[in-house]
This record gives sequence, structure tokens and C-alpha cells, in this order.
Amino acid sequence: MMLEEKQKTDSLHITVLKNEAIDALQVVPGKWHIDATSGGGGHTQEILNRGGKVLGFDQDADAVERLNQRFAGNSSVRIVNRSFEHLKEVVELQDIEISGVLFDLGLSSDQLDKSHRGFSFLENSPLDMRMDKRNAVTAADLVNGLTERELTILLSTYGEVFMPKRIAQAIVKARDICPLLTTGDLAKVVEKAYGSRWSRNISPSTQVFQALRIAVNDELEVLKTGLSQAMDIASKGARIVVISFHSLEDRIVKHAFKAREDITVITTKVIVPSDEEISRNTRARSAKMRIAEKI
Ligand SMILES: C[S@@+](CC[C@H](N)C(=O)[O-])C[C@H]1O[C@@H](n2cnc3c(N)ncnc32)[C@H](O)[C@@H]1O
Repeated sequence: MMLEEKQKTDSLHITVLKNEAIDALQVVPGKWHIDATSGGGGHTQEILNRGGKVLGFDQDADAVERLNQRFAGNSSVRIVNRSFEHLKEVVELQDIEISGVLFDLGLSSDQLDKSHRGFSFLENSPLDMRMDKRNAVTAADLVNGLTERELTILLSTYGEVFMPKRIAQAIVKARDICPLLTTGDLAKVVEKAYGSRWSRNISPSTQVFQALRIAVNDELEVLKTGLSQAMDIASKGARIVVISFHSLEDRIVKHAFKAREDITVITTKVIVPSDEEISRNTRARSAKMRIAEKI
């Protein structure tokens, strides 16, 4: 393979809880499993290593292109460029039985570290944040289009942002002079609005960016739909394994598992990465895994 081609297929993402998640999935050799967030393909590969077949989803076209190249010619893998909110429809069309479903939520390092995607305030880029570019609304549309009250609610609901009203007011004041179109424009407004009131050692933009990303991709509603469909389509005895990265997601997973009578919750306590894994990959530090089984 030429070097340029190889760089396209290589993912920067380090898979979180790789062995723990696939152990939990209890892969059935020769049977189909869903990787609802195939991303860099690390979990997908581990399911294949254990003899399972994979129906992989990712709503990000760049991820799908890399996955298709990585798994080209492998008849045990099918990759679908759709959101996992369409799990049921895709499985019904493929007419296959599902022996396990894995969700590894959020963003991959490929998305976070590619500056043109607008997910990170560490690089200056257009304020986009869409995982699926087919969706119409970008972060810039929300930042420049919502009312001050709508922005306050968004920041407090999705980011648990400190002083959300103050940040919303600062955004509205700044955009009245000039629209905020880049990650740098927004980060500057947030930093200035907090000034010396900010004493924590993470950037004040972290939660603001998280809130916008969740809203742009409608992540919480999509998660509820995807989880419910996963539990519907899973065969008897199939495991449903979910790795989440913030408390809003984890709460949804916990309640979704509890609410179903056809599901046994396997994890009484969440599973978290070891200190060794966190020291190798700091992005693993907020991961929480929950496991359930269809009965
Ligand atoms: C943390 S990464 C997954 C990494 C993967 N498990 C691996 O080992 O390489 C999350 C991926 O899920 C995708 N994603 C997030 N929400 C999604 C959704 N609703 N439907 C499909 N894919 C989604 C993102 O585009 C991203 O590529």
C-alpha cells in the first residue's frame, strides 16, 4: 500500500476498554454483532479476532471511508454510514440475527484532532461540530442564531456550564458586533466572560464546547433511540455493552437498562479503565462501561 493510502486508513484513535468491552460482549463465533460506533475500527477488529461477524455503524463519512479501506474484502464485516438511531431499520433490511451490540460513545481522536471539524478549541477552525455532514445545523448556526435564553438553557442542560447566563450574554453581545464563526472566536468570548472567576485547571471552553456538540448532533435523544432499538433487536442472551464519557450519557444508559423487563443488568457498578490504561491514554479517564443481557 502506498504511504498516502495507508495514512488515510490509519486511525489516530486509541480504543478504550478494548478487551474489557469485548469480553463483556461475549462474542459468539460465526454470528453477527453490531458495533454501533465503529470509528477507528479497534473494537470491530477485536470482535473479528474472536470469530464474530460485525455490522459496523458510523455516521461520520471520513470514519466510514477509513473503515471500508481497512476491512476491504472481509466478508465478516459490513459497514454502514448511518446513525445508530437507524439500527432497527438496517438490521431488518439485512435480515440477520444480532448476538451482541456495542456502543462506544462520543468522538474519536480522528475527529477531535482534525482541526477542520471544529470540535476542539485547541485549534482555530470553522465552528462546525457535525459528526454527520449531511445534517444541516452547525455549531455556528446555534451560536449565532439562538436567543440568549435558548443559549443559557443549552449550556446549562448539555454542558452543566458554570454561569451559563453570563456566557450566553457574552456570546450575544459579541455576535452583535460580528458573527462568531470559528472555534477561536468562541473560545475567546468564553475566556473573557469568565476572566479571573475561572480558577479550575481545565479550560473554561471544555463544557461550552461539549454542550454545543451534544446539541448539534442531538446526542442524548439519539442515544435513547439507539439503545431502545438495540434492546429490541438483540437476540435472547445477547449482550448490550455501552461505554459513555459523561454523566448525562451514563444516566441515560442506566435508566434505559433499568426500564426494560426483557433485560438483565449485569453491572451493579460501572466498569472504568485501569490506572495503567489512563496513563497510556488520558482520553480514557472519564469512560464508564455498563453491561446488560437480553432475556
Ligand atoms: C469513541 S469513537 C469509537 C471508537 C471505536 N470504538 C474504536 O475502537 O476505534 C465514536 C465513534 O462513534 C461515532 N458516532 C457517534 N455517534 C454516533 C451515532 N449516533 N451513530 C453512528 N456513529 C456515531 C463517531 O462518529 C465516532 O467515529
